[in-house]
Amino acid sequence: MSPNSDDALIKLNQVKFTYSSDSERCVLNLPYWQIASGENVLLIGESGSGKSTLLNLLSGISVPDSGSVVVAGQALQTMSNRQRDRFRAERIGYVAQSFNLIPYLSAVDNIQLATYFAHGSERKNSGSNISGSNKSLEIKALLSELNIVQEHWNRPVSQLSIGQQQRIAIARAVANKPQLIIADEPTSSLDQSNRDNFMSILMATASTHETTLVFVSHDLSLNRYFDRIDSMTDINMSA
Ligand SMILES: Nc1ncnc2c1ncn2[C@@H]1O[C@H](COP(=O)(O)OP(=O)(O)OP(=O)(O)O)[C@@H](O)[C@H]1O
Ligand SMILES: [Mg+2]
Repeated sequence: MSPNSDDALIKLNQVKFTYSSDSERCVLNLPYWQIASGENVLLIGESGSGKSTLLNLLSGISVPDSGSVVVAGQALQTMSNRQRDRFRAERIGYVAQSFNLIPYLSAVDNIQLATYFAHGSERKNSGSNISGSNKSLEIKALLSELNIVQEHWNRPVSQLSIGQQQRIAIARAVANKPQLIIADEPTSSLDQSNRDNFMSILMATASTHETTLVFVSHDLSLNRYFDRIDSMTDINMSA
């Protein structure tokens, strides 16, 4: 799939970003960056090269000082904070390094919380969102798909293994049928077998749910899982 075609899910043009607390230093200067719908991209770069900052622009947590960030046809820099919060809850699945599950909630409740935040407005192209009484059935189907057995569905996630928590984090990221999954170094603290496991499940789940994936890592050995590898030094002119 060509990243230059009109089916781009992500289009960045002339994007500049500076943290207000360090206004002398432009962290990001991206003349142009596109990701096609359905593409899986590994984004690599040294610590401090701006990877997480770029992910924050894609999810609308931050807005650029100048330039445009268009994700799924929405120009994020033109939206209000509230519109961007809603956009993020509805359209983006996020997998963090520490998974960010709420430890005292069960798998089902962690996922239900994410679907609750996405629920303020129903997706226009609905039929693809989890709603009403179907919601908990869909959550349970998703947990089964990711090999979480029924006896673990309602237990606090702090009582589950790291591998089980990873799979719940993946389930949560895809639960709202997002168009985009963003993963910020989710494998950096895993040993090799857990890492391979995590990657296989994440890639299979992204493919089943036809989701575009932007995955940040230092670990170039992950490259075999991806359609494309982008380096911050190539796309970021401030680097
Ligand atoms: N809130 C902030 N205020 C000021 N500067 C920041 C802030 N967050 C990050 N930075 C700076 O912006 C630069 C990019 O940080 P960022 O977190 O995007 O890097 P990264 O590539 O994700 O690094 P890592 O691989 O270590 O996670 C760094 O120099 C960092 O010190
Ligand atoms: Mg980072």
